[in-house]
Amino acid sequence: MVHEGFSVLILAAGKATRFKSERPKSLHALAGRLLGEYVLRMAADAGPERVYMIVGHQAEEMRKAFARPGLEFIEQKEQLGTGHALIVSRPELERCPSDVLVALVGDAPMLRPETLRALVAMHRRERAGCTVLTTRLDNPTGYGRMVRAGGRRVRAIVEEKVASAAQKKIHEINTGILCFSRAPLLAHLGELSCENAQKEYLLTDLVQIFNRHRLKVAAFEAPAGEAWVINDRVELARVEKTLRLRKAETLMKAGVTITNPEATYIDADVQIAPDTVIEPGVSLRGRTRVGSGCRLEPYSTIADSILADSVTVRPCCVITNCEIGAGVTVGPFAHLRDGAVIEPAAHIGNFVEVKKSRIGKGAKALHLTYLGDATVGARANIGAGTITCNYDGVKKNPTTIEDEVFIGSGNMLVAPVRVGKGSYTAAGSTITEDVPPESLAVGRARQVNKEGWVRERKKAQTSRGGPNGKSPP
Ligand code: UD1
Ligand code: CA
Repeated sequence: MVHEGFSVLILAAGKATRFKSERPKSLHALAGRLLGEYVLRMAADAGPERVYMIVGHQAEEMRKAFARPGLEFIEQKEQLGTGHALIVSRPELERCPSDVLVALVGDAPMLRPETLRALVAMHRRERAGCTVLTTRLDNPTGYGRMVRAGGRRVRAIVEEKVASAAQKKIHEINTGILCFSRAPLLAHLGELSCENAQKEYLLTDLVQIFNRHRLKVAAFEAPAGEAWVINDRVELARVEKTLRLRKAETLMKAGVTITNPEATYIDADVQIAPDTVIEPGVSLRGRTRVGSGCRLEPYSTIADSILADSVTVRPCCVITNCEIGAGVTVGPFAHLRDGAVIEPAAHIGNFVEVKKSRIGKGAKALHLTYLGDATVGARANIGAGTITCNYDGVKKNPTTIEDEVFIGSGNMLVAPVRVGKGSYTAAGSTITEDVPPESLAVGRARQVNKEGWVRERKKAQTSRGGPNGKSPP
């Protein structure tokens, strides 16, 4: 049986020079995922025998972010060029079971696994020593140019820095993705040198070295748009826009209405069921899942949250890490966070903040309220301007509001405190003690009306010579 396997080597040790960033490029976010995540998933989907990732700059952070079963990290302590990345990988490459290796740059998020497999298939068909994945760009500035020797054979890859005027006119470029037969690669890797204009070991120099040894170098042209690499933040934004539009189109074709896809930000891993409407300015982040028949009105941000069916989010809400039940209405201007659970048919109104609380079925908190570390029972009504005073300066304390409780407006509920089932609290109360079920709690001073007080005050002022010591005119 012919051995058909291949392995993938992801080059990601470099410092993102053109990003002007302290962080490696792979750790920058792109449409809701880390840039490095795209290449890793694509590589895994192509079905390789081994996946290696070469890390160097901020190696620890890279390992932490990308560690997964089946991925082997190789450390390139000093980044002396893309060729050097392969040189330091020699021990792993010698042990690698595959006879074909694909070296991938870590910054090509649009590449599809099918294309990677097609590259390997062509490499085998052509019996090449090396096959370069190329693409044609209207503006090839900055890329290594493909110098062909007639037909499909490749003579050299010439980097921008050393390209002649004629070579700079070549529109076919090296995507940075090269397929190698392992044996000749290991045999000739040692011939790379850093005595060139860049003073770096260039992976691309292997093309000329292979030619010198009469090993065939072929090229495989990637479908347009797939080989985009991200070299700076302008390209990052361009790819982000494309990926977001693509995500929106996938959702629209699956039955989601997106009124303005260009002004909607939906991360790669977000799921949305059919017949939900997403209005402009909405951001859906992270692992958010939205049910069917929901309506998300403009300018809300929803991150890592689960919305059941028929949820309405009115404009300008911030919802992070929450679970929202069917038929709930939230907002406008609501803030739900830190594991808040809103049970079905509850209603959270404007300027209401809910933190680490459970709001029962059909309960209402409609205006200007803070509910933190609280449990609110079914059908309870929280009056406008109510605050759970959950923090005593040292720790957070719980508030329990049982089913069908009516909290009057402007209440301070000093936790830990419990309001029993079906009870009422008077408006303006400060509730410091538990309220038994079916009771009325009044926690405020009784009002006193002093009749005639204004008249008497004026009289007193006149006899003293007016409020500023002067007689009134
Ligand atoms: C490289 C190619 C160029 C190609 C372009 C496509 C070389 C010499 N040139 O240029 O022909 O057109 O990609 O984008 O290969 N890296 C390491 N260790 C290092 C240096 C780099 O792991 O010592 C990694 C980087 O993290 C990056 C990748 O290799 O993911 C490519 O490096 P980069 O500096 O971006 O190469 P380019 O100059 O873009
Ligand atoms: Ca690059």
